[in-house]
Amino acid sequence: MNFMINETEQKLRGGYYTPLDIAKFLARWVQQAGAKEVLEPSCGDGVFLKAFDQISFARNSVVSAFELDFIEAAKSRSLSDNFSFKTNVINTDFLAWALPRLDGAGERFDGVVGNPPFIRYQYLPELFQETAEKVFKALGCKFTKHTNAWVPFVLASIALLKPGGRLAMVLPSELIHVLHAQSLRSFLAKECKKIVIIDPEEIWFEGTLQGAVILMAEKKTHTSQLNEGLGLLPVTGRSFLKWEVDNCVSQALGTRST
Ligand SMILES: C[S@@+](CC[C@H](N)C(=O)[O-])C[C@H]1O[C@@H](n2cnc3c(N)ncnc32)[C@H](O)[C@@H]1O
Repeated sequence: MNFMINETEQKLRGGYYTPLDIAKFLARWVQQAGAKEVLEPSCGDGVFLKAFDQISFARNSVVSAFELDFIEAAKSRSLSDNFSFKTNVINTDFLAWALPRLDGAGERFDGVVGNPPFIRYQYLPELFQETAEKVFKALGCKFTKHTNAWVPFVLASIALLKPGGRLAMVLPSELIHVLHAQSLRSFLAKECKKIVIIDPEEIWFEGTLQGAVILMAEKKTHTSQLNEGLGLLPVTGRSFLKWEVDNCVSQALGTRST
């Protein structure tokens, strides 16, 4: 049995950062849809901001990035000085910010990128536990105390996407199978037209036993739009990062690239 006292600070805040080449791949999927207002719900030291800079994100775009840790938020903020697009780094709990906006009021984004924190529900402070539960309830999703912090992050991110918006996230591979993520899988199927999971053979994050996958989803433009199904793309190595992202998605869904 694991006890909180034995866990590292990195593990308790879910602080495993995304390699830049992977972040750029995800950012390209959102860029290709012409996104101008992008959300990064837990930006750490800002690798996704760097990624957008390196793929020459449009000048009139804005990336709103949340980070709970003061020092990491400051690192992200300090990156932005030379970017051609605007950034807005907010040092606060993303879920608490998102909760009052889930009913359709307030900001909506046309793209979401990120790698949300992997923190067991029982390791979250009580206030965060309550907020996580309220996110499930606000979206009509079944809640369980077996959940993990990344699940309400993805739920809230999908809810904050505009119709037709794209989400690209690095997530624990348990997304595919664990029982506690069932309500997220159902929510994805209800809300999204395209859902693709890129499933690597290797473990990308040193120091974790948990494998990671890439989730790419495109929200329906209207509720009656048909879902194109779920595409699963197993990959070996990192050569897929050089592929055209839209082709990857089409290949996984067994459709033609548009
Ligand atoms: C897995 S790391 C990913 C960081 C960055 N997105 C990346 O891909 O490298 C998750 C980040 O979430 C932050 N975090 C944890 N709880 C949070 C919360 N409630 N709101 C916002 N950020 C949070 C952690 O401090 C950590 O930096």
